[in-house]
This record gives sequence, C-alpha cells and structure tokens, in this order.
Amino acid sequence: MTTSRPTIEQEYAAARPKSKALYERARQSMPSGAAHDGRVFSPFPFYVERADGARKWDVDGHAYIDCWSGHGALMLGHNHPAVVRAITEQAKKGLHYSACSELEVRWAELIRGCVPGAERVRFTLTGTETTSLAVRVARAFTGRDDIVKFESHFHGVHDAFVAAVKDPFEIPASAGVPASTLKTTLVARCNDIAHVRELLDEHPVAAVILEPAGGRSMTVPSNPAFLKALREETTKRGVVLIFDEVVTGFRMAAGGAQEYFGVTADLTCLAKAVAGGLPGAALVGRADLMDSIAFSGDAKRDRTKRVADQGTYSGTPLVAAAAIAQLEILKTGEVQRELNRLGDRLRAGMNQALKTRGVRGCVYGASSMFRVFLGADAAELGLDDWTMDAARLDRGMGAALSGPLHLAMLVNGVDTSRGNSNGWMNGAMTDKDIDQIVDAFDRSLARLQEERRLA
Ligand SMILES: Cc1ncc(COP(=O)(O)O)c(C=O)c1O
Repeated sequence: MTTSRPTIEQEYAAARPKSKALYERARQSMPSGAAHDGRVFSPFPFYVERADGARKWDVDGHAYIDCWSGHGALMLGHNHPAVVRAITEQAKKGLHYSACSELEVRWAELIRGCVPGAERVRFTLTGTETTSLAVRVARAFTGRDDIVKFESHFHGVHDAFVAAVKDPFEIPASAGVPASTLKTTLVARCNDIAHVRELLDEHPVAAVILEPAGGRSMTVPSNPAFLKALREETTKRGVVLIFDEVVTGFRMAAGGAQEYFGVTADLTCLAKAVAGGLPGAALVGRADLMDSIAFSGDAKRDRTKRVADQGTYSGTPLVAAAAIAQLEILKTGEVQRELNRLGDRLRAGMNQALKTRGVRGCVYGASSMFRVFLGADAAELGLDDWTMDAARLDRGMGAALSGPLHLAMLVNGVDTSRGNSNGWMNGAMTDKDIDQIVDAFDRSLARLQEERRLA
C-alpha cells in the first residue's frame, strides 16, 4: 500500500505538538489566542522559546531564520551583546525614575544626529501613539482639522487612521470608530500628486501623512518623484508633511527614508528600531512645530493652545539604555549599507528561484525589506513604471496561496510576517543566511508546485 505525502498543513501541525497544546490553552484566555492580530494563523501559531542572532527556536525544537525581526525593531538581530549589556546594567540601576535622566538626553542627541529635520525629539511609547501625537501637533499648529492619508498606508490602530488600510479601502480596518471621526481623514491614491492637489484645494488640511517608502512597508512602493512633488506641494501650502518612519527609520539608512530618498519631512514618527528592541518611540521634527508641546511660561497660552502629552513609560531609563546601545551602532550607517546589499542579494536570489521554477511572481521591495507576490510579475503589477493598482498589491497573492507559502517557509526554517509575505531583515544575517532563505523559498515553491497550488 502506498501512503501519500502529508500536505504542508499536516506536516507543519504534526511536527509541533507542544505549540498546538499551547494554542489550545491560549484560546481559553485570549481573543484568537494571541496578543496581536498578525501573529495568529491557521492551523495554529508556533510558540517561541528563545532567540539569538538571526534565529529563533520554537518549543518543539524547530529553528527559524527570523525575517520578522521583532516586527522590524531588531535591526541588529536578537540579543546583540551591546544591547543586552546595556539593559542588564541599567536594570540594576533602576527601571523607572519618575524623573529625567541623562539617558534620555543622550538618546535624543543620537536621534538628532541621524535623522534629517529632527530639531526636537519627544519620546513616546508606540508607533500608534506617535502618529496620533503628530496629527495633534499639526492640527494645533495650523488650526485646521483634516488629514490626508494614502490607500494601504498603515499608521497604527488609533481612530483617525483605521481608514483605507486594507482592500476594500472604503471599509475601515476596525469596527468601533465613529463615522464622524473618520470625516476628517481624507484618503488619497498612492503616487497620485494630482489627487493630492485636489484634496488640498478642497479641504482645510492640516497634514499629509505617509509611509515614505510605500504603504505597509513597501507593499505599495512610493515613487521617489512623487515624494519630491509632495514635499513641494505641502511646503507651498503650509501643510505639515508627516513621514511615518516607524519601519523605515534607522533601517533604510541611519537617517531612514529621508536620507535614502533625499526628502525631509516636517514631522517624523519613529518607533521600532529607535528603541533597541524595547517598547519606545519618538516624534521628531521642526522646532516650531514640536514646540507646540513646550511650555511657554504664558499661562493662558499653555492652558489653551499647548499640545498636552504625557505617558507613564515615555523615555524610561531601561528603554533609553537599550536604544542608545543600538543607535550608537546604527548611527554610522554601516549596518544599513551591508543589510541593503544583502537585501538586493536576497530579492535577486528569490526572483531567480521563481524564474528557474517557471513560477509567475515577483519579490520586490528595497533596502532590507522584501515582499513576495505569486501569480503576476513586476511588469504586470505596474511595479516597473509606477502604474500599480494599490488594491491589487494590497490583496497580494490571496490567502489560498500566502497561507501555504508561509507554512512551507516555516517547514523549511524561515519565518516571515504572515499573511502578506513581507520580510524585514536584521543585522545578524550573513550571506550564508541569505543563501538559506533563498533555498527555503526554492523548496517552498517546489512544494507548492507538487501540491498543485500554483496556477
Ligand atoms: C508604518 C507603521 N506605522 C505605525 C505602526 C504602529 O506602531 P506600533 O505597533 O508601535 O503602535 C506600525 C506598526 O507596525 C507601522 O508599521
């Protein structure tokens, strides 16, 4: 009697009994059994026990090259000795002083030294909090209410920005947000400066916000010429230009996407890599705008016109220590240059695997970010000439393909951001790791072909 080979789903599940049991337990306590929408997937997520360098290990003993890299925060990989040392030493000196410390001053100086236009720094805790503060500063400064955002661009989960994140863009990304709140969020088409002009002509716009490299970590890449046009248009009209560099900050270069593209925003939202892998974030930008937060000494102005901001965990010493350790290394740009080289190698290698196997698809992105799309090539998707359809790129290859591809990559020892097949690389990766990821992708394609999941 011949036994047929198990499917990818069966193979994944059979080899992870401990993860399966943990997931069953988790579902009794947490919605969907997880702490983050993006971490849960079918048939069940794997549970990680430890991580080091470019890798993490699950409770069933499987090793994965980590292309999710702490949701992009771990620019140096897991447990970089300098970061671990800084955290360990600081933990003995105190976690939270309820007071100022020299650490936050040094952290702010490092950011100012790297990020174009960072004349002032305000520490926050998360990306969501930071984009929310940026909007408040822009509104207080301009006296206008409306904000322009772009289809597919993600700025965290607060009310104003649940609009137009995912296809279909007219349905907000979350329930529970009043339509009246969303009235002040205007949605523009990606890379369409004429549409932006129209919106700016017709509405009292305080700010335009975008992920400069493209919506959802380059799922819908931005045309560099569009960024320059946007800069000119917003300057001309006194509209605040906000770059959400939560992912790209300190990643594309020491000065983030602003250095990479040569365009400087008025306000920049930083999170992830800015805090050394611990929870921390910062709003930075032009002094006159940022000083909307500053006390002036004029009691009436401070009570009526000032932007109030306070967070229990903002700029805490433990986070500052980790951040300083990471930024002291990232500030030279060397890590990013090497990672950008590895990123080029990785995308080229994966695209070659598609070609060799005769699979229609492409792996695109820039710097140390990549995204896999199966079912259409770059030209067909309009990626070569900026004619792309944001909704199509956003939908990606669809769950029927992205699910099995994700599982196949896991079975072959590589973890990527689930669902949308995005990856962020980290500084612990070597050329050998790139070879291993390309090989895992090649094997995964073969597996999808074998199971007749590819057209
Ligand atoms: C571009 C961008 N902005 C904002 C956020 C929200 O950041 P946080 O999860 O720290 O709230 C994210 C999170 O992934 C992001 O990718």
